[in-house]
Amino acid sequence: MRKQIAAANWKMNLTFEQADQLINELLNFSFQLNDNQLVLLGVPFPYLMMAQHHLRLSNGIFVCAQNCASTSNGAYTGEVSAEMLKSMDISFVIIGHSERREYYHENNALLSEKVNKALESKVKPVFCCGEPLAVREGNNQNSFVEQQLKESLFHLSSDQIRNFIIAYEPIWAIGTGKTATSEQAQEMHAHIRNVFAEKYGMEIADSISILYGGSVKGANAADIFGKPDVDGGLVGGASLVATEFQKIINSLKA
Ligand code: PGA
Repeated sequence: MRKQIAAANWKMNLTFEQADQLINELLNFSFQLNDNQLVLLGVPFPYLMMAQHHLRLSNGIFVCAQNCASTSNGAYTGEVSAEMLKSMDISFVIIGHSERREYYHENNALLSEKVNKALESKVKPVFCCGEPLAVREGNNQNSFVEQQLKESLFHLSSDQIRNFIIAYEPIWAIGTGKTATSEQAQEMHAHIRNVFAEKYGMEIADSISILYGGSVKGANAADIFGKPDVDGGLVGGASLVATEFQKIINSLKA
């Protein structure tokens, strides 16, 4: 059975003290995560160690980085390698978020290098895909997302693909308060699963968790996560409020 996952993406938010407090608040809730459910906290690089320290005794909650370098260690000022993450026992990394694609010009080819580096270091990628508004309005979202996946991931073997978590995040729904309907999410998630099935077979496609992202909050999570191909969410704004994120975690399918 594939995992049901609530992943927080804090982005570039919170001071160290606020971050510390938010993690403490989250740990004070008594989550009843079963073996099939996972919570990821995507914190900024400088807070990884602090978060790791807090979460070391927690069950089913893991620290996640928001990015990693496309190269191995070396003279790359300001970059953080997948190998460094692994050396701190960080086992998850978000790759290809639309904000990185847009503001830092990360394209499909560069992202394929990043996933290679993550996999070499045994760090599991949470790989993001999703279309901008104009593509959705032209009804070309399926081929757009398919191309993102093909150009960044389809050089990988079946065993490597098994390690992926995919996050579908329509750009027009990120931070806008405008959520895709649960039907739109299901339709795209089924398409994504089908794209993987055609290349890698149904068994592998079925094992990949596909998260929805874009204005997920406590009030809409259960509806979206209730769809058969939606295996949880990648959550920005609402993950910064402990009680909201708690509701989102509690909306995961069993
Ligand atoms: P949002 O962000 O929940 O604030 O829309 C989601 C994301 O960008 O991962």
